Amino acid sequence: MHPHVAQLLEFLRFPSISTDSNHDKSVADCANWLGEKLRRIGLDTTVHPTAGHPIVVAKNAHRAGRSTVLIYGHYDVQPVDPLELWTTPPFEPRIENDIVFARGATDNKGQILAHILGVEETIKRAGDLPVNLTFLIEGEEEVGSQNLEPFLAAHRDELRCDIIAVSDTGMVARGVPTFTYGLRGIAAMELKITGPSTDLHSGIFGGAIANPALMLARLLTTLHDADGRVTVAGFYDNVQPLADWERAAWSKLPLGDGEILQLTGAPAVFGETGYTSTERTWARPTAELNGIGGGYQGQGTKTVLPKEAFAKLTFRLVPDQKPADVLKKVGAHLRANCPPSVRLEIAEGHSGEPYVTDPNSAAGLAARRALQKTFGSEPALIREGGSIPIVQTFRHLLGADTLLLGLALPDCRAHAPNENFPLENFHAGIGLNEALLGELAGLK
Ligand code: BES
Ligand code: ZN
Repeated sequence: MHPHVAQLLEFLRFPSISTDSNHDKSVADCANWLGEKLRRIGLDTTVHPTAGHPIVVAKNAHRAGRSTVLIYGHYDVQPVDPLELWTTPPFEPRIENDIVFARGATDNKGQILAHILGVEETIKRAGDLPVNLTFLIEGEEEVGSQNLEPFLAAHRDELRCDIIAVSDTGMVARGVPTFTYGLRGIAAMELKITGPSTDLHSGIFGGAIANPALMLARLLTTLHDADGRVTVAGFYDNVQPLADWERAAWSKLPLGDGEILQLTGAPAVFGETGYTSTERTWARPTAELNGIGGGYQGQGTKTVLPKEAFAKLTFRLVPDQKPADVLKKVGAHLRANCPPSVRLEIAEGHSGEPYVTDPNSAAGLAARRALQKTFGSEPALIREGGSIPIVQTFRHLLGADTLLLGLALPDCRAHAPNENFPLENFHAGIGLNEALLGELAGLK
């Protein structure tokens, strides 16, 4: 086995699930393993404890006159459930047809390790890197990066950089190099509808007392109109329209409705009228229901009128929407539309701003040259629908833009059973790091 692949398998064996405190020891062990690896390749490395999971920082010797590049990634992973849908155990990596299957293979261990090994190879061959480099690798990306923001504020000087690179996004198809110049933001909210002070017999009280589960359903259906547009007053106020060049470029990508239906297994596409599926997911905001509950969930029938019901919502945002503004408008809409026969409680959750950078900036062009050099073809320019909230925070706190050079394939199954990463992309990522640092060195 290639030694790079052996190291990937070692990294993947840590069950570093950040959301589950039963795994805290594995998360810490994983951070220490990473710290050791970075030290061995000659970087000055510190594993910083935080109120949550450790943050790993590693640097080469920074010298005046060189570009300073920060590479960000995360070593934490999503939970594995439903475990029974995995073909083999999620933390016992398996290679089949040159694809490695394990939780974290794509998101984000395979991608961040490719950068680390790229740096190791360059140092081995050339003795040093062409840039001042800082690795910043956290263990809480999958739970909202709560301790990273104060860490950035406290270590601003140490983390000062000209540009940031992140490989935690996707490629439009196998072998198609992809430069992502935008991500959606996010704003989360939980709703609780309550009515009677206790569960009631639905025969004795049904008809006289409003049913919280039904009133919640009625309230949620007020969020969209028949054309799939969000009906919250002012929701689209700050939404930047798509540029003509984006619509033209995206329509040529090998990622149409046929591919989306094949990937998802859904019977039809659905969304806001007047936009294609890529436009809807990359450049239009949405209101999503992530979870709903209340009333009897067991086998058979139970004639109950439940005392309460809940819903978990997230809104994906695009420039120039602001999470706080959207949450305020949605709250007003829900309060105005909630039937008077029940009570509504709203709790706001985590949030992150949308991000867009100029793909034609000097750094954007440098990143695109590195992708072209690595994959041998012109990179696709896309935005994506997922969120990496810390990227906009980098801009605010460090004053640096982020280049998103993702290696995830559309069928990587990130966050799902049988997550996988092709070794082809892992090896390409190692080469990409070298090409990228070379191109960015040329900017100074
Ligand atoms: N790697 C993803 C973000 C991503 C996914 C970017 C798809 C582009 C395309 C990241 O690990 C993630 O899952 N982020 C969360 C953020 C949330 C927990 C604040 C997301 O997008 O739901
Ligand atoms: Zn993720």
